[in-house]
Amino acid sequence: MPASSTVTVDVHLDERDLRAALERDVRAGLGASPKHIPPTWFYDEEGSRLFEEITRLPEYYPTRAERALLERHAGDVATLAGADSLVELGAGSCEKTRLLLDALASSSPLSNYVPFDVSADFLCDAAGSIAEEYPGLRVHAVVGDFLAHLDRIPTEGRRLVAFLGGTIGNLAPAQRARFLGDVRATMSRTDSLLLGTDVVKDRRRIVAAYDDSAGVTARFNRNVLSVVNHALGANFAPERFEHVVRWDERAQWIEMRLRATQPETVDIEHLDMTVTFDDGEELRTEISAKFTPEGIADELARAGFAVDRQWGADEGEFLLTLAHPDR
Ligand code: SAH
Ligand code: TRP
Repeated sequence: MPASSTVTVDVHLDERDLRAALERDVRAGLGASPKHIPPTWFYDEEGSRLFEEITRLPEYYPTRAERALLERHAGDVATLAGADSLVELGAGSCEKTRLLLDALASSSPLSNYVPFDVSADFLCDAAGSIAEEYPGLRVHAVVGDFLAHLDRIPTEGRRLVAFLGGTIGNLAPAQRARFLGDVRATMSRTDSLLLGTDVVKDRRRIVAAYDDSAGVTARFNRNVLSVVNHALGANFAPERFEHVVRWDERAQWIEMRLRATQPETVDIEHLDMTVTFDDGEELRTEISAKFTPEGIADELARAGFAVDRQWGADEGEFLLTLAHPDR
């Protein structure tokens, strides 16, 4: 008889904590000049659904490129990491996870899978399906903010910590450095980190990935205004904000904004706050940094990691980097 699977879910961010964090971010970001809002808030149920749709768009190459790398190299990753537990940060729908789980399970018995995400609904569905598909695997989902709750992740076993999808590129450089240092601090000498990053390439190809012809990314970007409407009783009219995408050559990142197409006055009832937008004023919603293999290796070194190996460095579309704590 197959061993039965178990799923546990630890919630470190309940509705109240989430609300408090959103309130803080909206108050600070919409009160600032220029206005901004952090990308953590894109992923309510609708946002997570739209992101899944993005990953299937013809223009959005990163998901396909990363999956192709995992299909080809997950075996090598597993051999080098020698892990019996997989921790996945920003796991989302856990779509590419099966490739890693299969590879890890074929080289040594696999004990734990720990998907970690701020978006609870999606995470729990995905964790449930994985538990059904991998009998005997302990699935321990953790709902939290990877900028605040890394210390809540279980440390048992020899772990492979995966951070895929290029999500690290959504953090600002200083935040990214702190995040990598924090991840390093939770790891033991025998753990490994697998980092998926998008790479610098032809700018038209990058821009198209964030400005698709079907307008899904535009809907995804505007959805953050609906999140603020629902959670904080605001009255944004998302359809009066235009999706704007810019490649910043100096910083080597995509910047996404929402531009008011007329003067706007927005009341945010639960914050007792009124925000005005001039005609054409922009709200910065997201950056997505692109990297070089050397740049990633440098940033990892500064955070206390040594690179074991990189895959995709020649093909150029996307990059997987495996690293371990250097002391
Ligand atoms: N790894 C998946 C999903 C990438 S989308 C893939 O490669 O396709 C980014 C994911 O990170 C979303 O599921 C989002 O909910 C999660 N996320 C974003 N900010 C986060 C934060 N601060 N803490 C935890 N999860 C976060
Ligand atoms: N991590 C993804 C990326 O940077 C997230 C993403 C894809 C995204 N498309 C987006 C975030 C559009 C905001 C808006 O590629």
